[in-house]
Amino acid sequence: MSSLLEVRNLKKYFFLGKGAGKEQNGVVRAVDGISFTVKKCETLGLVGESGCGKSSAGRVILRLLTATAGEILYEGQNIEQLSHRELLPYRRKMQIIFQDQSGSLNPHLTIGNALGEPLRVHRLIYRKEELKAKVEHLLELVGLSPDQMCRYPHELSGGQRQRVALARALALNPQLIVCDEPVSALDVSIQAQIINLLKELQQKCGLTYIFIAHDLRVVKHISDRIAVMYLGKIVELSSKESLYARAKHPYTQALLASIPRLTPSVRRQPLIFSGEPPNPLNPPAGCHFHTRCPYAFARCAWEEPLLQAVDFDHSAACHLLDR
Ligand SMILES: Nc1ncnc2c1ncn2[C@@H]1O[C@H](COP(=O)(O)OP(=O)(O)O)[C@@H](O)[C@H]1O
Ligand SMILES: [Mg+2]
Repeated sequence: MSSLLEVRNLKKYFFLGKGAGKEQNGVVRAVDGISFTVKKCETLGLVGESGCGKSSAGRVILRLLTATAGEILYEGQNIEQLSHRELLPYRRKMQIIFQDQSGSLNPHLTIGNALGEPLRVHRLIYRKEELKAKVEHLLELVGLSPDQMCRYPHELSGGQRQRVALARALALNPQLIVCDEPVSALDVSIQAQIINLLKELQQKCGLTYIFIAHDLRVVKHISDRIAVMYLGKIVELSSKESLYARAKHPYTQALLASIPRLTPSVRRQPLIFSGEPPNPLNPPAGCHFHTRCPYAFARCAWEEPLLQAVDFDHSAACHLLDR
């Protein structure tokens, strides 16, 4: 499989405050030098606690936000360099769906109009009957009945709204969809339905996903490979099998330990590290994780660990690997 997307040393910094002296108000290194590739038709899971930079990474990759540094290669073309005009053909190929679909669906538009809108905007379909047939097809594709066309977003359940958001993303026949916590707001039983639908559509439409989640339970079923982020950096990058069987980074191990067990009698395990994530305006020196790591030793406080290969298609950034 060839790669569809390659991200090289990507950075997104937010400079707080305006005008002269803005640096003094601080800088959040939301994405701080991440690199990975995503092959055609595969799913890369992007996982980490809230605030670690997942959404920023997703938005920068789609050029909804401007990168501070780095390269984004889409089928080998560096799209970071393209003008808005040159970017247009890529806009159709790359779509995003969010956790909260109520924000992205206009409450005053019927589902039918919401789905027809991207087709009209991109001037793909003009004739009314053709548009109706396309909208019906999109609804069927995501498991909704064509009568839903006349309804409004508030008349649908959360799961149905997420299906509509997906249908809207599919309207332009994209190749890549960034799924930004698409099931985090849904009940667990509905989560499974949406994830199964995403898998089915991936097969049917040849889609490539970047699937963002804050825990390792949600991404397990859908991902082929997984990147674990902590404070703007990738701390572990691996095939799914290797990650769940042999996680190397203490942060990944803690995330795995906190996955709720399937048996309801066993309670969700607490994270084995203590405390909240550090202040992103002032992250710890060395390994960002050392202040919460049960295995930290002197070197971790002053030297940043780099990603190193530990196995086939598995790398981690931790000084314990050298011991
Ligand atoms: N527009 C912004 N201005 C300033 N800081 C931001 C902005 N967007 C995100 N951040 C900060 O960047 C960091 C990463 O945020 P985000 O990418 O939303 O993380 P995640 O999606 O993993 O929760 C957080 O510290 C967040 O507060
Ligand atoms: Mg987010």
